[in-house]
Amino acid sequence: MKIYLATNNKGKIREINALFGGTHFEFVSPGELLKETDVLEDGDSYRENAYKKAYPLHVATSAPVVSEDSGMEVEALDGAPGVHSARFANLFTGKNSTDTENIQKLLSLLKEAPQDAGSDKDAGSGKRDAKRAATRAARYVSVFCFITGGQVHYFEGEVWGDITETPMGSGGFGYDPVFIPRGYSDTFAQLGPTVKNRISHRAMASQKLKDFLLTTWPR
Ligand code: IMP
Repeated sequence: MKIYLATNNKGKIREINALFGGTHFEFVSPGELLKETDVLEDGDSYRENAYKKAYPLHVATSAPVVSEDSGMEVEALDGAPGVHSARFANLFTGKNSTDTENIQKLLSLLKEAPQDAGSDKDAGSGKRDAKRAATRAARYVSVFCFITGGQVHYFEGEVWGDITETPMGSGGFGYDPVFIPRGYSDTFAQLGPTVKNRISHRAMASQKLKDFLLTTWPR
């Protein structure tokens, strides 16, 4: 069964279809249709932005629509970039920025952020590393919005990790080269899609959506 996915982000479409592999659901990009009904993603929350993406397309097509809004939240930056993750390097123009620009901005802000590196007496005890890591703690958040017959449903997921000092790896998209999920020592970009699709924020949220869709439209 084909369902519109209200995005033209190829990375997301690829990941979400991989996450639904083995089911009878296929997510398709609305292409030009999304441009006609496009809205500014200026909401204060992932839910609001996800709704803003899905609702106009649902009204235009009367078909079931899924959208997803996601972001990266870094503790030392008080939760930034958050809902602004896609446009972080271009906040004042509102235009999307490239992944490289966003990563550079994130890393340079983290360099300037107060570093609780631990005192010298902690050196070698492991405490200093633990304190340093805490300042680079971050989470990815994913929120799916599903609208069918005018009814709106949300499904959320998150994954915690730490931001590296330099980008590593070439897989994934967005901030993946600088995000190491908890329990691993490689970035999402190095770990590749099999591991990412098992533990990511999007995997957690899409599992909840999958359970709901399979109950609503069993094969
Ligand atoms: P949006 O949900 O399309 O508004 O954009 C979310 C933005 O958050 C992306 O453009 C990325 O910058 C970031 N982001 C969200 N999820 C991921 C992910 O799985 N990997 C890397 N970056 C992500």
